[in-house]
Amino acid sequence: MSDPVRHPFLQGLSKHRGTPPTVVVIFGASGDLTARKLLPAIYNLAHDNLLPADFHLVGFGRTPVPNAEFRTLAAKAVRDFSRRAPLDAVLDRLSERLTYVAGAYDEPDAFDRLAAHIAEIEKQLGNQVQTLCYISTPPSVFAPVLHHLGSSGLATRHLDGPLHTKVVIEKPFGHDLDSARALNAAIRSVCAEHQVYRIDHYLGKETVQDLLVQRFANAIFEPLWNRNYIDHVQLTVAEELGVGSRGGYYEQAGCLRDMIQNHTMQLLALTAMEPPVSLDAEAVRDEKVKVLQSIQPLHLGPDGDTARAQYSTGMTGGKMVSGYLEEPGIAPDSATETYAALRLSINNWRWQGVPFYLRSGKRLPHRVSEIAIQFKRPPGTLFAAAGERFPLAPNTLAFRIQPDEGLGLVLSGKVPGLETRTQPVQMNFRYAATFGSNTPEAYERLVLDALTGDGTLFIRGDEAEASWRLCTPVLDAWRAQGREGMDTYAAGSWGPAAADALLARSGHLWRQP
Ligand code: BG6
Repeated sequence: MSDPVRHPFLQGLSKHRGTPPTVVVIFGASGDLTARKLLPAIYNLAHDNLLPADFHLVGFGRTPVPNAEFRTLAAKAVRDFSRRAPLDAVLDRLSERLTYVAGAYDEPDAFDRLAAHIAEIEKQLGNQVQTLCYISTPPSVFAPVLHHLGSSGLATRHLDGPLHTKVVIEKPFGHDLDSARALNAAIRSVCAEHQVYRIDHYLGKETVQDLLVQRFANAIFEPLWNRNYIDHVQLTVAEELGVGSRGGYYEQAGCLRDMIQNHTMQLLALTAMEPPVSLDAEAVRDEKVKVLQSIQPLHLGPDGDTARAQYSTGMTGGKMVSGYLEEPGIAPDSATETYAALRLSINNWRWQGVPFYLRSGKRLPHRVSEIAIQFKRPPGTLFAAAGERFPLAPNTLAFRIQPDEGLGLVLSGKVPGLETRTQPVQMNFRYAATFGSNTPEAYERLVLDALTGDGTLFIRGDEAEASWRLCTPVLDAWRAQGREGMDTYAAGSWGPAAADALLARSGHLWRQP
């Protein structure tokens, strides 16, 4: 990379032989996600020489934008948000391949113009291309976009060969079971399941992918990975930030929809699923669906399996911050939860009797996502812990998804000295220490996988429905209760008392990761 002029992307070489000639169309091209994540991801794929030689990107959006302006905006987005400083020559070459088509999402003619534009690109290249339609619009227009991908013939281009159209759909995939089913039906009416890539960006995170490697590339875990050795599992996806300027969206969503139904349930599925027969997308997703379908319906109501709360004023990052109800765009009597915790029971041979606790919230003490496996306590007949008043500490294996990615194992060790006393000690593997810290962003992995047709890290339609089937009754019950039973927690604390009580009922305590 010392001589940018000789960069392979500039010379039309791709080191990823599986990436066919492609036109990516981004619907919602002027949106925040396009600027912050998609364009920087595409730039970094070009930087790493992973894009096909015949690569074009078409922005599609309601506001008319001349090609030159779209290129300038895209270059600025890459400069502002790329994880690496862009190389001018690579960015310029990428920019040359950007064009823009304006149109409304419910305007059939606009989709016909788009189809003609792609056919023209193909003609100029002199060979066929695959079309990757990336739907990154507000969810209210997912259905019309899908419909017009069908009516314009874009969804069925080159259908019988490897260059068939692919459709990537951003989250949220529905807001309850019925809407997710309706969206799946809208998809099925225009294309086949193998053409569809439903995004959950957590699946693109390095450490989430590593979870599969850790579980199945090591012989020591699988024999212990069951109800005989594991006492319970805690999944935490904590954020330090509040809702910020996203109040309008968040009021309609809430924590269960925003973080638990998708990201946290995906972490659970990968942690609890059976070993797949292969790493093929369908084999992995079959196992995820099976485990999601084995989760028992939750007990709702007092002393049930759920807790919800809103943050109130508190200290975080050294300063006082407002409570949720005082944030911009939030109704003063809002019944939207900013924290949710669930206790799940998986009714299968491996996990029966092992509680899985899930929690997520905004304005918690710091940003951390982890999966903690707590093993059963060893019999305390030979050794006692320091002070001899407590039983031996249980072993805990914690997968740290972010930040400071890694894996930690808590063991009991001997405290040096003439007495035999034990104390929990920690063994740590830290990604950054071993591999350095400039790893690809989730969207780089996901865009590349969609380009090459690998659906493993995307959510299948039945998976989305299985997760909604579990969460929808909880949302219905919470909606019926309104603010009744809504707990609060001070911003900067680890959540409400109701969440502590949820674990205490089974004799457990939340970790403070
Ligand atoms: C998004 C949610 O899906 O995930 C946001 O809509 C949340 O509310 C974000 O902040 C968290 O993602 P990450 O990658 O920063 O953990």
